[in-house]
Amino acid sequence: MRIFLDTANVEHIREINSWGILSGVTTNPTLIAREGKDFKKTLLEICDIVDGPISAETVSLSAEGMLKEAREFSSWHKNVIVKIPAVAEGLKAVKQCKKEGIKTNFTLVFSLNQALLAALAGATYASPFVGRIDDTGWDGFEFVRDLVPLLDYYKYETQIIAASIRHPMHVVEAARAGAHIATIPYKVINQMIKHPLTDIGVDKFLKDWEKVPKK
Ligand code: G3P
Repeated sequence: MRIFLDTANVEHIREINSWGILSGVTTNPTLIAREGKDFKKTLLEICDIVDGPISAETVSLSAEGMLKEAREFSSWHKNVIVKIPAVAEGLKAVKQCKKEGIKTNFTLVFSLNQALLAALAGATYASPFVGRIDDTGWDGFEFVRDLVPLLDYYKYETQIIAASIRHPMHVVEAARAGAHIATIPYKVINQMIKHPLTDIGVDKFLKDWEKVPKK
């Protein structure tokens, strides 16, 4: 499973990219708004930092509008992936993007059927929002566990990005479900590397090292 960072914060992206484990970045209008900076400038800055798929989301409601945005975003940089919401107009836009060689991320996916339609339309990625499903009292990964083997069985090329990850156990669940990618917030990536026993162990080794006679 590959890891993307789910943020538009360039300092955070730079920091996590330096760990050597990052394959891409996902943004959405909320994450872009949170940074309070120009959309295109932010996107290009992210593309400069991470050499991998960088998702930028459309905000149009019609397929025509989504396509217009898709053509524009994808002209900014070769790594831009166009995020398109999981609605009927979105399917039309994804299908046309596929014809034009524009890579897409079908987003706000909350069911196996939406993901199946994404695969049929030729989406490069589909993003189930597991945390938001958990928020409603259901298991956000239930359909993802069915989805991944199903895509494999039918040899669909669409890759699953487990999104709306809220805590480290979501990442574990994403890996168990066979998601191709988990897009993870900065806070959760930091939680993933942390373990109190590691800190205690490092501390003890350093203290014991002081007792080793130095010539
Ligand atoms: O990748 C999607 C993500 O940004 C949404 O997360 O926590 O707002 O549901 P959240």
